[in-house]
Amino acid sequence: MEYNRCGKSGLLLPQISLGLWHNFGSVDNFENGENIVKEAFDKGITHFDLANNYGPIPGSAETNFGKILKNNFQGNLRDEMVIATKAGYKMWEGPYGEWGSRKYLVTSLNQSLKRMNLDYVDIFYSHRYDPNTPLEETMNALDYAVRSGKALYAGISNYPAEQTKQATEILQQLGTPCLIHQEKYSMFVRTCEEGLLDVLEDKGVGCIAFSPLAQGLLTDKYLKGIPENSRAFNPNGHLQLDEVSDAKVFKIVALNEIAKNRNQSLAQMALAWLLKDNRITSVLIGASSVGQLNNNIDSLQNLAFTPDELNEIEQILK
Ligand SMILES: NC(=O)c1ccc[n+]([C@@H]2O[C@H](COP(=O)([O-])OP(=O)(O)OC[C@H]3O[C@@H](n4cnc5c(N)ncnc54)[C@H](OP(=O)(O)O)[C@@H]3O)[C@@H](O)[C@H]2O)c1
Repeated sequence: MEYNRCGKSGLLLPQISLGLWHNFGSVDNFENGENIVKEAFDKGITHFDLANNYGPIPGSAETNFGKILKNNFQGNLRDEMVIATKAGYKMWEGPYGEWGSRKYLVTSLNQSLKRMNLDYVDIFYSHRYDPNTPLEETMNALDYAVRSGKALYAGISNYPAEQTKQATEILQQLGTPCLIHQEKYSMFVRTCEEGLLDVLEDKGVGCIAFSPLAQGLLTDKYLKGIPENSRAFNPNGHLQLDEVSDAKVFKIVALNEIAKNRNQSLAQMALAWLLKDNRITSVLIGASSVGQLNNNIDSLQNLAFTPDELNEIEQILK
């Protein structure tokens, strides 16, 4: 594993990070999740990404991650990890259980620390931009999280380019620079190329790309229909059946051919394709098995693309 500097900060993150959005909830097999985290760490994945609402049930991924830490990562091993959590989406009933108020963010962070049994997280994110809360209030809450020692760094996620610029400037004034932006980015979802990546580069903020495999679409999983052991089939999965459209599968099949010629799986090529841009600090994958995790890590063996390959990929993605 190699480690990239996160923006202009002192923090290095692994090229591949592991997210616990799916496969780590109370509905999932605990031992499978535990094995994935252990294997990831053994392979040099030091960064684990959570959020208050990951499950289902919401909160259970943090609780399970806390148990995994207790079972396997006692003592100083915690110091070898970068653990992130977030608040922004609906977590509890009433007016204080979502969005970007100081009340919600600080309370939620306290709850997350309790669930994971941690003194601090490394990164605390505002999970989404809240148009109805002054940006100053949300950024003040992140600044407080860092100053109080409950988080080491502040991050934002799913913020549009303009609000990202404003948020980083407010945080800069507060003296808690924005470490990182977490944004959906894959061959299939490229909105961040329309301005956000430029803002991040300009402001010296790192970028971690989530759902880099488009929730599994950019793998060989859906080449021949929708298998039962897939996120699209899983009632708790966020990949909708209609997202596996004929038009998508047509592209997946064509991309898979290019990957084969590179002696890579499609998943490996999809990850390498993101990492070729040095503005991407890390790709934030999910995995439902140790086998998938290892397949994805092996993408690091071939990150280079020829101009012809890049061209062909562009033609398919058009
Ligand atoms: N900030 C945000 O708003 C936000 C939103 C979403 C996610 N995230 C973060 O990003 C992380 C990753 O998101 P994601 O899980 O959507 O990422 P992803 O890497 O695009 O999709 C992961 C899924 O793809 C399938 N897969 C992975 N590797 C495979 C392989 N080699 N071969 C075949 N199938 C493979 C598995 O699904 P199957 O179940 O089909 O096997 C796996 O669970 C999350 O855990 C979370 O930490 C953040």
